[in-house]
Amino acid sequence: MSTLLKVDNVDSGYGDIQILWDVSISVDRGEVVAVLGPNGAGKTTLLKTIAGLIKPKKGRITMNGNRIDGLPPEKVVGEGVALALAEKELFPSMTVKENLQLGAFNKGARKKLDENLELVYSIFPKLRERESQRAGTMSGGEQQMLAIGRALMTDARLLLLDEPSTGLAPLMVKNIFTGLRRLMETKTELSILLVEQRIGQAAELSDRGYILSNGHVVYEGDIRQGIATQAFVKKYLGV
Ligand SMILES: Nc1ncnc2c1ncn2[C@@H]1O[C@H](COP(=O)(O)OP(=O)(O)O)[C@@H](O)[C@H]1O
Ligand SMILES: [Mg+2]
Repeated sequence: MSTLLKVDNVDSGYGDIQILWDVSISVDRGEVVAVLGPNGAGKTTLLKTIAGLIKPKKGRITMNGNRIDGLPPEKVVGEGVALALAEKELFPSMTVKENLQLGAFNKGARKKLDENLELVYSIFPKLRERESQRAGTMSGGEQQMLAIGRALMTDARLLLLDEPSTGLAPLMVKNIFTGLRRLMETKTELSILLVEQRIGQAAELSDRGYILSNGHVVYEGDIRQGIATQAFVKKYLGV
């Protein structure tokens, strides 16, 4: 497999407050990579730094060999990176379909709008059923599907997902993960960097993962095996 995203020795944070310390991670083409870690570890900060919402203080980030750190967020989208945040940024008074269409704002994505809309509807059939409904009236889980769908509409090669299952009822969590699994089966060259609190589900979907603690990468490798042992979970995830 070849490397798609590479984060090398990145320091990042907010103003004078440093959150990430010398963080290095990579994602190959077609891979699902989990990022786990306790609350406040810096997981969201990492995703925001990759997406160009925060400029790293040190290190480099490349997509497909092209440097993306320091680029404004919309240019990072143009390099194939799309972020779906836990706190969704949907347009509540617009319909589901309009929200999805708005995801395809960059040039490359506009050309593939129909194809990507079909992809989104095929992984989350609920969105097709509800395409004329206003986004603000959708349930939490449906809005999460919409946020992921909108990220896909940018014609992303790398999806950054920030806790897609947080706050959702078990059935909805299942629907989200089923959709993601279907997505990876349909679009095999896509990659996902998945931040999750639900370590079991994240481990099942991902090929491998990293654990962040206090802004440091403290573990890198197989997650499925690791979380099967209590000592591992206690040591790295503090639960
Ligand atoms: N806008 C901000 N300004 C200052 N500090 C922040 C900001 N956002 C997050 N932080 C701090 O950064 C640390 C890591 O937060 P975050 O990346 O959200 O962690 P996680 O997603 O792993 O829970 C926390 O201590 C948090 O308080
Ligand atoms: Mg977070």
